[in-house]
Amino acid sequence: MKNIVILISGGGSNMAAMVRTAQQQQWDKRLGARVAAVVSNKADAAGLAFAQAQGIATEVLDHKRFATREAFDTALAERIDRHDPALVVLAGFMRILTPGFVAHYAGRLINIHPSLLPAFTGLHTHQRAIDAGCKFAGCTVHQVTAELDVGPILDQAVVPVLPADTAASLAARVLTQEHVVYPRAVAQLLSKM
Ligand code: GAR
Repeated sequence: MKNIVILISGGGSNMAAMVRTAQQQQWDKRLGARVAAVVSNKADAAGLAFAQAQGIATEVLDHKRFATREAFDTALAERIDRHDPALVVLAGFMRILTPGFVAHYAGRLINIHPSLLPAFTGLHTHQRAIDAGCKFAGCTVHQVTAELDVGPILDQAVVPVLPADTAASLAARVLTQEHVVYPRAVAQLLSKM
């Protein structure tokens, strides 16, 4: 079985969409894959309750308990590796990862970013797209490399930016597409493994 480990920090809606799609599309039978664990760096991440209700192993590793980024990432990798992951899926995991962590998971670490990369790496992507006068926005699934939000693009989805949009309304429109494009990209990767 190819194990997927999903890392979250908050709402976990992308994680939930992945779990639901895996169930609906029977990834266990069709792709020999399953979501094996969900790991959060925040104990109050809303997504943890959903994962637990689905019978998925959950873990919390609070980054504030570690003196350095390296120490946190070493402990995080140790937790992740207990599940022998074929893929490590970042789903709203709001931590910058060390080069050592990224190298350890080279080729099996992916992220979703709420912009049409290479535009708007980093934070506040929706407000920045509105401020720049963009007519379209979207999301990007990409392989993770040492540089933040720069890695081979696997899939994207595009949405219009409407005249009355706020960062919140645009984020909500993009998020509905994230829930489509991320499971699709993961299924595609799994089918080639
Ligand atoms: C999503 O919009 C995701 O693209 C973004 O955080 C949100 C998490 O939502 N990720 C980043 O900004 C990563 N830099 P979710 O917890 O409901 O999936």
